[in-house]
Amino acid sequence: MLVTPDPTAVPTALSPVCPAYGAHTDARRIYGPEAQEKATELHEALRAAHGGVAPVLVHGDVPAWLVLGYREVLEVARNPTRFSRDSRLWRAPAEGLVAPDNPLLPLTTWVPMCSFVEGAEHTRLRAAVTDTMKQLNHRGVRRYIVRYADLLISGFRERGEADLVKEFADALPMLVMTKLLGMADSYGPRLLEAARDMIKATETAIESNAFVEQALADLVAEKKERPGEDFATWLIAHGSALTDAELVQHLRLVLIAAYSTTANLIASTLHMTLTDSRFRGNLAGGHMTLPDALEQVLWDTPPFSAVYGRWATADTELAGHHIKAGDMLVLGLAAGNADPQVRPDLTVPVHGNRSHLAFSGGPHECPGQDIGRAIAEVGVDTLLTRLPDVSLAVPAEDIRWQTSLLSRELLELPVTFTALRTDRATASTPPATAPAPSLLAPAAEAAAVPTPPKSRSRLWESLVRWVRGM
Ligand code: HEM
Repeated sequence: MLVTPDPTAVPTALSPVCPAYGAHTDARRIYGPEAQEKATELHEALRAAHGGVAPVLVHGDVPAWLVLGYREVLEVARNPTRFSRDSRLWRAPAEGLVAPDNPLLPLTTWVPMCSFVEGAEHTRLRAAVTDTMKQLNHRGVRRYIVRYADLLISGFRERGEADLVKEFADALPMLVMTKLLGMADSYGPRLLEAARDMIKATETAIESNAFVEQALADLVAEKKERPGEDFATWLIAHGSALTDAELVQHLRLVLIAAYSTTANLIASTLHMTLTDSRFRGNLAGGHMTLPDALEQVLWDTPPFSAVYGRWATADTELAGHHIKAGDMLVLGLAAGNADPQVRPDLTVPVHGNRSHLAFSGGPHECPGQDIGRAIAEVGVDTLLTRLPDVSLAVPAEDIRWQTSLLSRELLELPVTFTALRTDRATASTPPATAPAPSLLAPAAEAAAVPTPPKSRSRLWESLVRWVRGM
């Protein structure tokens, strides 16, 4: 019988692993098309061979540990003194194992922001982000989500068909986030393009990153001069007194962390609704609410399937493995969510259980989860309400996915629905009687410095032009 060679297995004799990585002689690659396409099978094989933590090779065959067990992911995430987010601890670069063009470097190169520090510095930087988020008026944010969702739908409702990834899921979080941050809408199209480019690690990723940083530096300069009712203004004013570099890096972190993950969550939820009749039936019949449906998706296909990563602060033991100081650990969020110890049967619905790992855990647990959930829930609800007969335009098995370093995402979601005539006058401007929703939380609103009213119709028209021009 012929045995197909396993492309993810590195033959021991050819192993690039140096003696300092003795435990990695039978490590398997978790990168490359084959490993990424068959990630679930690979995780189960690694779990069977090694338990909750497995020796693996990441890009460039650099040795690392993949944390696969639900319990182990939480153990690592909740113990920053043993497993730090500070990538300067990584010993592989100092040992010459990480080439300058390694695609992990954009994720692991240390930057002065909350996701790379621990202890008092983390508390200072994270408080600036979380306190700023608390100033957001949830009702105002939800109203903006409905407005932008309606705007996007008005761009395709007359056609009776659309690609819900490109024309809806991918665009909605960026529209909402640029608004929340306080950016001029003219940045929208290029920001979306740049953000897509950056996270796909294309050749122009560095240029796109520079564009995003410059746009945010301009935003900081503008808001220092003319404060508004927005995230950037409140971040600048926060008592943690962030430097200009820290301000730009944190605005960038929020924008990018929010955009890609939330777009992915919207697309996966729509996909599940359109392809799984039981899921849609449960939703339509009231057996499942939309928030429950989102939690199901966050368990089954977490928007970040892995987090790169954590670094051991000293030699330590984890799940029976000897981890050396400076070793990299990859948090397997998708693998942990599928751990048979917590979910023996993956087909059993989770019924709104929120204890998945999609937002990680411990001190770095995603602080934007409520905003991400709100954009996804309100966005999907608006779409299903406006297009009640929306259905897939192609057989479910023809839908293409792309698996990358961090996620598994839909490339397209072609749908059809009954075309609706759009009254252009009402679709392209908000109702004259509707005031622009305030973004400021009610408690803070009373004390707010009044800002000059913005020209809403101009803003709306240019957004409509942007969306229609896509
Ligand atoms: C469904 C949507 C989202 C998912 C699945 C998600 C997931 C994650 C994950 C897995 C982390 C890494 C935690 C770790 O290092 O262990 C993270 C961090 C972070 N996320 Fe989110 N996120 C989402 C939406 C958002 C939104 C909307 C925002 C901002 C408005 C945001 C802001 C951040 C920030 C600032 C961090 C860094 C926190 C720190 O290191 O202390 N995320 N997110």
